[in-house]
Amino acid sequence: MNILSRTMFSVDLDSGPAASSSSSLGRGLSDAVKEATILAATPNVSDFFPAIAAADLQGLRRRMGPLVAEGHKILDELFAQRLLDREACEPPKNDMLDAVLDKEHEEQQEGSEINRSTIKGLFTDMFVAGSDTSSTAIEWAMAALLNNPQVMEKVKGELGRVLGKKTQVEESDIAQLPYIQAVVKEVLRLYPPVPMSFYRAEATVQVQGYTIPEGTTIILNIWAVHRNADVWADSEKFMPERFMDGDIDFSSKECKLIPFGGGRRICLGLPLAYRTVHLVLASLLHEFDWVLPEEAMESGVDMTEKFGIVISMATPLKVIAMKRD
Ligand code: HEM
Repeated sequence: MNILSRTMFSVDLDSGPAASSSSSLGRGLSDAVKEATILAATPNVSDFFPAIAAADLQGLRRRMGPLVAEGHKILDELFAQRLLDREACEPPKNDMLDAVLDKEHEEQQEGSEINRSTIKGLFTDMFVAGSDTSSTAIEWAMAALLNNPQVMEKVKGELGRVLGKKTQVEESDIAQLPYIQAVVKEVLRLYPPVPMSFYRAEATVQVQGYTIPEGTTIILNIWAVHRNADVWADSEKFMPERFMDGDIDFSSKECKLIPFGGGRRICLGLPLAYRTVHLVLASLLHEFDWVLPEEAMESGVDMTEKFGIVISMATPLKVIAMKRD
């Protein structure tokens, strides 16, 4: 969430001069995002019986309203502060907020649809879509590595060889770490944080002999595509080596590995998520040794999934970090 906040508004949620006010802002956003994700994943009878949608029988719309309002209020404050900074001729931050404010100004001259409300919608979307997804992927990756010590050793070996005595991993190092790249692919194959994506047919189309009428909601089961035994050898096994020839990537046309969806609706956070997941994972593994608490040593990590818009671990991972000398 902090990486997103810095990319979007140059606000550091953990430290810096505005630490106390920004961390309460971070908590506000974080709580709103968590609750909104749970509400959004709750099956809603209104979706199946639109005629009674106005009654909001489960109260989902009633509960979502204040959360969205809370998120938008925080965004309004950020917009207002940035406009004040601009009036005071503060140097530009060159972040996403600067970019969209410039765009809004340009588009206003041309009478376009981009306005404060669509921008707030985009920012809210990015916060909801971008925070739990990357952190969940990292948690699954750590769990899978702890359950597969021989893979963990290979990862550490690669990090040691490539980074040597360098203490901090940098974004530019990722390209030199093909085995970690393969590990991330295998984690996102077996444990795709977003297990399903939703589409709506804008026109009637024919797909492989099936007619899909206009207006149909299509649910794509990403999780099942990734475990299809006709496509993947030993599909249930954690085997990063299957990706070592580098042929399959997240946007290849074959649509075998689609944790970020595909086509024109592919996750717009893919480049950021790719960097974040690799960088955080590599940093955790390069700087610390990790051991399981005694009770998990024998049984291994419980990899049971908890269903939601984001699939999380049913038993959150507990692990002990030991600083390297
Ligand atoms: C490992 C991390 C992530 C995974 C697995 C993931 C996965 C996905 C998936 C499956 C979709 C649906 C794509 C489709 O409909 O075909 C999606 C959409 C989206 N993602 Fe991500 N995502 C991740 C990280 C992020 C991040 C970091 C951001 C923000 C910076 C983000 C922003 C979005 C947005 C805004 C959409 C909606 C795009 C649209 O409907 O046009 N995601 N993501």
